[in-house]
Amino acid sequence: ATPYTWAGRFDEPMSELVKRYTASVDFDQRLWQQDIRGSLAHARMLAKQNIINAQDLADIERGMAQILSEIESGAFTWSLDLEDVHLNIEHRLTSLVGDAGKRLHTGRSRNDQVATDIRLWLRDAIDTLIALFKRLQLALVTLAEQHAATPMPGFTHLQVAQPVTFGHHLMAYVEMLARDAERLTDLRRRVNRLPLGSAALAGTTYPIDRHFVAEQLGFEAVCENSLDAVSDRDFAIEFCAAASLAMIHLSRFSEELVLWMTPRFGFVMLADRFCTGSSIMPQKKNPDVPELARGKTGRVIGDLNTLLVLMKGQPLAYNKDNQEDKEPLFDAADTLTDTLRIFVDLVPGITVRPEPMASALLQGFATATDLADYLVRKGLPFRAAHEAVGLAVKAAEQKGVDLADLTLTELQAFSPLIEADVVHALTIEGSLAARNHIGGTAPAQVKAAIERARKRLA
Ligand code: ARG
Repeated sequence: ATPYTWAGRFDEPMSELVKRYTASVDFDQRLWQQDIRGSLAHARMLAKQNIINAQDLADIERGMAQILSEIESGAFTWSLDLEDVHLNIEHRLTSLVGDAGKRLHTGRSRNDQVATDIRLWLRDAIDTLIALFKRLQLALVTLAEQHAATPMPGFTHLQVAQPVTFGHHLMAYVEMLARDAERLTDLRRRVNRLPLGSAALAGTTYPIDRHFVAEQLGFEAVCENSLDAVSDRDFAIEFCAAASLAMIHLSRFSEELVLWMTPRFGFVMLADRFCTGSSIMPQKKNPDVPELARGKTGRVIGDLNTLLVLMKGQPLAYNKDNQEDKEPLFDAADTLTDTLRIFVDLVPGITVRPEPMASALLQGFATATDLADYLVRKGLPFRAAHEAVGLAVKAAEQKGVDLADLTLTELQAFSPLIEADVVHALTIEGSLAARNHIGGTAPAQVKAAIERARKRLA
């Protein structure tokens, strides 16, 4: 059996169950690249500071190069006896290069080592995500461009409210996703600080150069307090909070896609590659992908919750509780990454059906506000206009027709101010075009918003 790392002080090894309970290698081995990178930067600093000699550094570099290729090729044996990714790699290094390997951990602890590894890993994950957010926004902008003037009902309370364009609706998601990416860019600055050099909790007695390590690893700054550096995971919590919000946005979009795909709406159809059939009902085409995205949002919110609860009772500084940070963090990042990747492909595969959108729009008196606004322009106070139009809607509903189907004489019964020019107020096109200011749904404004988004994304 592998001799355990702290055998010196112990009289008996741990039981098999405790070994499995305390080990993290099954899930933290994915940090191997970051672990090797961090170790190399640390070793170079130790050599520069004459804490180890040039030969030691050369041995460490040679050993790490070999380990890297062993892990890449699948030849590396991960051992539960060696608890985590850090001890597995360090142990292999020593078996390859001897004493130089035993010198690597000088002035370092797994506490600052793991905090560094996670930050390096998360930084890369964030960069991948930011690029994906951009691609998804571009996909939405492209679809929005084709439908900048396509009318659909806008809803409040899921009841037809006012006409909007489908392009305007899609651009709402572009705004949400832009903020999601912005949140990641912002929190990346706080992720990108170096814990290494904090050692176990108090710093180290060696004449280390933390700024040199930070520079080699591309960190913007060093963590300024050693106790804080090894123990807080607020950067991971922030990430999970941002990931949760992003998933919530994708979940709302998913919910709409699911609704829109039902024959009751019939607004869109998804490409077959995002749907599945039924094992019993031959006619079925189910929107599994958006449903799962909606469902997986719960996982990511759960990941955030796990980290929040994990942190709240911990005294300073490092506690083993923190080993539990990795699975939720990885899960949140993986889930968001996969969901975005899928949506980048799903959005261009949406078939839009303008006719059902238009006919749904004719069923909910969507231009009632426009009629009230028309009366206001003719001098009626808004509250009086609201009431007159309310009565007109009630009459139209009793007749089973839309407002636009009432004759001029019928309309004039509700207000003598109504004249022939009312037709412009009652058409969908008139209603859309009238909301012509920044942020409004007029096709001209939607096109301008698309242009601004394209500029932002370029
Ligand atoms: N595997 C540990 C973790 O993920 C590394 C740090 C262990 N430190 C310790 N003092 N036991 O947190």
